[in-house]
Amino acid sequence: SWSMDSFVDKEIERIRNIVGPTGRVVGAVSGGVDSSVAAKLMHEAIGDRFHAILVDNGVMRLNECENVKKMLGEKMGINIKVSDAADLFLGRLKGVTDPERKRKIIGNTFIEVFEAEAALIDKECGGNIEYLLQGTLYPDVIESISFKGPSATIKTHHNVGGLLEDMKLKLIEPLRELFKDEVRALGKILGLDDELVWRHPFPGPGIAIRVLGEVTKEQVEIARLADNIYIEEIKKNGFYRQISQAYAALLPVKAVGVMGDKRTYEQVIALRAVETKDFMTADICSGAEWFMCLKRISSRIINEVKGVNRVVYDISSKPPATIEWE
Ligand code: XMP
Repeated sequence: SWSMDSFVDKEIERIRNIVGPTGRVVGAVSGGVDSSVAAKLMHEAIGDRFHAILVDNGVMRLNECENVKKMLGEKMGINIKVSDAADLFLGRLKGVTDPERKRKIIGNTFIEVFEAEAALIDKECGGNIEYLLQGTLYPDVIESISFKGPSATIKTHHNVGGLLEDMKLKLIEPLRELFKDEVRALGKILGLDDELVWRHPFPGPGIAIRVLGEVTKEQVEIARLADNIYIEEIKKNGFYRQISQAYAALLPVKAVGVMGDKRTYEQVIALRAVETKDFMTADICSGAEWFMCLKRISSRIINEVKGVNRVVYDISSKPPATIEWE
């Protein structure tokens, strides 16, 4: 639309004015639509003086880091650095089962790793990093002002506020007046792949809050493989766009099953799929075709993912259940 076109031109102009001819900007990217659109806009404005950092926290989805690196780095030409911190994160998560503690550990470790990477880049560039790019949207701004959003009060959300104080970086938030649908429209105008533009949201703490109970490398791998089959089938069967968010969670319980003539005793995968406009309330996805698809997904997961012999579908609405299990 013409208003979004003019938004792009104005925003690029505004960014160039703020950053100046030599200033540099760092920003975390995750592969999500918000950070990707923000990064693309920044790259259009200042090119290689924008430095994207992707922190591999060990709890991203299957092949996610490589995919994001390819998409943003190779395809979009953005200056991107992947920081492999998987072992650091998993080490700190050892023995931790409380969901809020998981979030705090991941949030704090994220800031620490990001800050170290940003400091390195700053050193390499002669101390010209002055700004931090964040893909904050209008609803995030409102939520943090009013603290009325259920997810803001019930669960601690990921943020990188600490960076502003420690590194004295100034914040640039080009999306702070936009709603999600406007960010997607903006992404389209900027030429982002549909795959990126229509991405389901993925929480900062990632698979760590989808492996219920203790997070280990092995448990993350099981959840990852199941989730990958789930999302692959959802896309193949044309349900991805009508679903707002879908994921597989690994439950910390074992169930009895039978495979050939042998009794099995293995773990349970819970599938979640919701439709929602604002993520404050949500309905589960239902319908005969969807259920047929779920049945196929269930048998694929049980056949292909070692350690799983049962799949259940979460039929709880939000509220009272939240979208995530933790
Ligand atoms: P809930 O589970 O509160 O989730 O119904 C609402 C939306 O927020 C996402 N979510 C998070 N996102 N850090 C994030 O960046 C978090 O700690 C977090 N917890 C929940 C969730 O995936 C859903 O889209």
